Amino acid sequence: ALKDNTVIVVLGASGDLAKKKTYPALFGLYRMGFLPRDVHIVGYARTKMDDAEYHKRITSYIKIADNDAEGKEKLEEFKKFSFYISGGYEDGPSFENLNNFIVDNIESKYQSKERNRLFYLALPPSVFIPVAQHLKEQCYSKDGKNRIIVEKPFGKDLESCRQLLGSLKQHWTEDETFRIDHYLGKEMVKNILVLRFANVALSSGWDKNSISNVQITFKEPFGTEGRGGYFDEFGIIRDILQNHLLQVLSILTMERPVSFSAEDIRDEKVKVLRAIPPIERSDTLLGQYVAANGKPGYLDDDTVPHNSVCPTFAATTLWIHNPRWEGVPFILKAGKALNEAKVEVRIQFKDVTQGIFKDISRNELVIRIQPSEAVYLKLNTKTPGLNTRAIPTEMDLTYKRRFTEIKIPEAYEALILDALRGDHSNFVRDDELDVAWKIFTPILHWIDGKAGPAPKPVPYPYGSRGPKELDSFISKYGFKRTVAE
Ligand code: BG6
Repeated sequence: ALKDNTVIVVLGASGDLAKKKTYPALFGLYRMGFLPRDVHIVGYARTKMDDAEYHKRITSYIKIADNDAEGKEKLEEFKKFSFYISGGYEDGPSFENLNNFIVDNIESKYQSKERNRLFYLALPPSVFIPVAQHLKEQCYSKDGKNRIIVEKPFGKDLESCRQLLGSLKQHWTEDETFRIDHYLGKEMVKNILVLRFANVALSSGWDKNSISNVQITFKEPFGTEGRGGYFDEFGIIRDILQNHLLQVLSILTMERPVSFSAEDIRDEKVKVLRAIPPIERSDTLLGQYVAANGKPGYLDDDTVPHNSVCPTFAATTLWIHNPRWEGVPFILKAGKALNEAKVEVRIQFKDVTQGIFKDISRNELVIRIQPSEAVYLKLNTKTPGLNTRAIPTEMDLTYKRRFTEIKIPEAYEALILDALRGDHSNFVRDDELDVAWKIFTPILHWIDGKAGPAPKPVPYPYGSRGPKELDSFISKYGFKRTVAE
């Protein structure tokens, strides 16, 4: 682990990701006492600004209640060890300058020789490669550990991902590299492993014999406002399905790892992903939101081309060709500008044998990732009283009721701490990315219009449940709505 004598360098310190996620997470860790002793943070970006401006920016998303005197004090301490230095991303001398700053102002005061550096790249992909290279050439510590954190987009398809990873590998080893998929830092995503493998009651029915279909759903109640230009190049599949939802799928379906070690876990994830063939066009439903209820449509955004066919909603069905899962459809669906914020896994079990029961609901296990973390099982029970009819009910583990004293950490807090500790379990390995792109690249090329005319997404109103075609899409794969009481 990186303990004493550690400098955390945030590249892209003036940007959105840094302001909204990285710095609040660093502060959260500091407050909870999880940052290395005597840690220093150095922000780096092109924007010229003084310390006051920098401190204002990096703390703008940190919430501290008015009556929280301790929090305010901690924040003042946090600012004292957070510095800023500006420079370009493509020129050596700027990075030399960054290095000199670190040595002169921080490391020269260390008592011992050890010097560890953690580089966090909160940057647009266009500068990943030059920055990774300059960091290695000008800022690499020869007397300690170096680690680099990077985040998607890791290319746009299989080929561009391989190129990007290949270039990064020229400078940084797999061991030094931490690729973030922040869904792996979410409490309920981490919980899947324990739910599955620590409960015989669940693991015995975890296969094609008991399970009819699985849905992994991501819903956001806002559109791409302000990010349209970026989003249009990627689309919802690259933004959410190919990474966040596929990660959830792999943990949900992998075999039991030999141990909790990073390589054992990731070996199993890769193995199950390799059993998934590329997604078929016929297993795909694409949508794009249009203006409704006073909210703008996707195409109303000035930064989006007026004739864009970029999907803001997608449902795709994946199949796993192995003995455990053959024939079970896994429906991944995600959309922007929908009716609610929700991310959940819904596992629908098969019908009980008919005969004594008619019209009886199926069991469903729901893992709600956010908001309000929960696990609940829909099951049938006898209607209490003098009759034998079954009614559907729920066994409900809602975290905020069960674990009243616990604060669930932010995904980025959990992940930055893992990176400091050198634990790769919740980071994406190179071969995981490779298989993930293999599954999605053919439909992405089709959607990009590289394989004939691009498909036109179906419209859905801003704030709706999604395209009206969705219900029939899902029922095609055997999903049955719970019988209404
Ligand atoms: C990001 C996507 O990876 O995840 C965003 O680029 C999306 O479009 C975000 O809004 C969702 O993350 P969370 O943690 O809010 O569910």
